[in-house]
Amino acid sequence: PSPTDFQAEDAVISQGVVESNHAGFTGTGFVNYDNLVGSHVEFTVNAASAGPATLTLRFANGTTAGRPMDITVNGAQAADELAFDPTGAWTTWTTRTLTVQLNAGANTIRATATTAGGGPNLDRISLG
Ligand code: GCU
Repeated sequence: PSPTDFQAEDAVISQGVVESNHAGFTGTGFVNYDNLVGSHVEFTVNAASAGPATLTLRFANGTTAGRPMDITVNGAQAADELAFDPTGAWTTWTTRTLTVQLNAGANTIRATATTAGGGPNLDRISLG
């Protein structure tokens, strides 16, 4: 794994569980968000210097409905109801990318479900 990859199963999970029953994940599993608004996963990442970074979230959504999430960085909103659209199957994983502003040193990145379906299954995030 790349040092810029952060596995969801190693992050701080609020209202979700680590599972491994849908193939194609990286690491040892993925997070299955509870099906409710507010369930979230929070990563702590280190940045060598302050400035913009490309944040990539790897997910699967085997339903026919979107699973949007708010993305916050150090408590500030970086994306409002970012779409995590259906991927066709829980074993079909894809990525969603956005630009975020990081501080030098430790940063928290949180992905919070905004609809009653909860978040998609989240495999990992990557920073580049
Ligand atoms: C199914 C699926 C889970 C998924 C869940 C959901 O139960 O097996 O992996 O997280 O649906 O709707 O979120």
